[in-house]
Amino acid sequence: MVKSTGVEGGLTVQQNPLDDFLSDHKKMTELEHQFGSSFYLFNTEQLRMNYHKIESAFKSRYSNFIIGYSYKTNYLPYLCKVLSKLGAYAEVVSRLEYDLALKIGENPKRIIFNGPLKSRDDIFYAIDNGSLLNLDSLYEIKFVEEYAKQYPKRDIKIGLRLNFDISENGVSPLQEGYPISRFGICVESGTLHQAITELSAYKNIKIVGLHGHFSTKKRNIEAYQKITETLCKIGKRYIEESLEYIDIGGGIYGEVPKSFNLNTPSFDDYATVVCEIMNREFAHWTNKPALILEPGISMVANTFQFVAKVIETKTIRGQNFVLVDGSVHNIKPTMHKNNLPMRITSQYPSSTKATVFHVVGYTCMEKDYLAHEVVAELPQINDFLIFDNVGAYTIVFNPPFIKERPGIVAVDEDEFMIVRKKETLKQFVNEEIYTF
Ligand SMILES: Cc1ncc(COP(=O)(O)O)c(C=O)c1O
Repeated sequence: MVKSTGVEGGLTVQQNPLDDFLSDHKKMTELEHQFGSSFYLFNTEQLRMNYHKIESAFKSRYSNFIIGYSYKTNYLPYLCKVLSKLGAYAEVVSRLEYDLALKIGENPKRIIFNGPLKSRDDIFYAIDNGSLLNLDSLYEIKFVEEYAKQYPKRDIKIGLRLNFDISENGVSPLQEGYPISRFGICVESGTLHQAITELSAYKNIKIVGLHGHFSTKKRNIEAYQKITETLCKIGKRYIEESLEYIDIGGGIYGEVPKSFNLNTPSFDDYATVVCEIMNREFAHWTNKPALILEPGISMVANTFQFVAKVIETKTIRGQNFVLVDGSVHNIKPTMHKNNLPMRITSQYPSSTKATVFHVVGYTCMEKDYLAHEVVAELPQINDFLIFDNVGAYTIVFNPPFIKERPGIVAVDEDEFMIVRKKETLKQFVNEEIYTF
């Protein structure tokens, strides 16, 4: 029996291919016996649908299109492998992520290596492997030059992440209200010019790509228009001969829960504007540069749910608290106050009597609220609460604080597979260092 109302608490039930299963208390109890009283559910089919939707929106308008999945958003190896099989490149921002991509069998030529911190060894390794390497700062250029001197016969291809003003009517659209971004090589201050001059002294170095990722508050179309136009303009001005790709980064909206009440652009809306610019700017090119998009949140947010069993309900001076085997860290590591879509799978029939309650977690922190002021039927002990839209920045940002991290169960065509086991003491204690 599923109990949930689209009322004041901000809850709505999203359509999900697993809906029937999730509303069956008996089946959920069977899962509990196998996987524990809290776990993530990963919906593999939803991921495939997201991939195909993004791909067809862009590819139908600009055929030389590549998706570079942003690993940091959720680097569950199983998920990365599914995306790789679908055709996604791996967009990584550290050597750890790079090595993970290799471990899952990714072709290094399909790895896009971004990020502000790369060592000399990282850069040498990426060049040796023929990966797409986007440099963020001048210090990295020194390593590339060193490589070029050491191997004068090898052709070296690199990309540059650019930083330029994307403000709208003088107002910065960046997240958290930052007036300027700290990433990339600045165009306006002349650093780009300096970088290009330095690099062009080497016959065996080619700048083949330009990258521009900006995390904006509204994820609006206008930002992508500016990013794409600027990258194309700079590409044509400085590296027309060698330009192979324009990488507009990630940051687009995916499907957003209805309860967020946001009127967001669709994949088609983004693709229409971006591809129109690409087609216009490169209209007469026989070999048009690739367009790269690096989706993270939009690819994975709606592919994960978090299931937590109700352990207790109590009333303290008129306020109802529902304690679950879970924590705000499992679903909202940034601890924002918005309630995520949530449903209650109960063993009892619905009484339609709504009440106000908070859902709280197992940690000793007062602020461990998974949901605030929910208006719905009060959950009972042994019911399950299921939170939607928890696929982005959860499992990568979820330290084993107080309790072990929960397991992850992948669902694919009615099959349930454990793809991450619930942690044990073994993962807490490094036995190479500690012997007891
Ligand atoms: C370089 C780069 N690419 C892609 C992404 C993915 O962004 P999103 O998850 O908002 O799509 C990020 C996120 O910060 C990023 O830094």
